[in-house]
Amino acid sequence: MHIHVVNHPLIKEKMTRLRDAKTESPLFRQLLDQIAQLLLFEVTRDLPVKTLPVTTPLATTTGYALDVSSITVVPILRAGLGFLDAVLDLMPEANAGHIGLYRDEKTLKPIEYYCKMPQDKNAQIILIDPMLATGGSGAAAISLLQEKGYKNIRFMCLVAAPEGVKLINEEHPDVDIYAAALDDHLNEDGYIVPGLGDAGDRVFGTVVK
Ligand code: PRP
Ligand code: URA
Repeated sequence: MHIHVVNHPLIKEKMTRLRDAKTESPLFRQLLDQIAQLLLFEVTRDLPVKTLPVTTPLATTTGYALDVSSITVVPILRAGLGFLDAVLDLMPEANAGHIGLYRDEKTLKPIEYYCKMPQDKNAQIILIDPMLATGGSGAAAISLLQEKGYKNIRFMCLVAAPEGVKLINEEHPDVDIYAAALDDHLNEDGYIVPGLGDAGDRVFGTVVK
């Protein structure tokens, strides 16, 4: 199974508070932002940089520039939106696309309802969605992007289930997955165990109590 699990004490501590059923939406969103930025550190680790001179108050030295305008961040609606601001905060010049998908509650198959992407087909795509459960939504989003001609795709999530990782590895072996945690299994309703529940509901406060 191919997946980068970003093992870091800060991520582990924040994930623990995020998973807690007692954590309400305001804190959940704050933790999601912080974990997104810590994950992005790994997701972007090997992106190419150009050197350029920079003059400090004391001397001219070597500086570095990342071509952020060639990066496109793509949240899968709706829970992926919970990651977007944190990512754009670190890379304000990046472009953003949007893919709307939801899982049919009975079949667990993804239903597409929206797609709007920037033009640059050579951009580095960072597909973001907190949950990789059956993998159906992630795999469908990647297929949609590839059909439209986007090639360089990385997938960033919070929690991955082995079932979802297996599906993405099989259907899209060229896509690297980055996650804050690899959990145990899916339950009969397709929820990740131990997981954190329904990510969209917890981000947007639509949990039925
Ligand atoms: C959640 C989540 C993923 C999907 C993962 O979205 O944000 O997109 O489920 O499940 P999968 O790997 O089995 O496809 P959901 O369908 O609940 O939609 P929402 O974000 O609009 O709540
Ligand atoms: N979608 C979620 O939001 N949570 C899960 O555990 C599985 C799919």
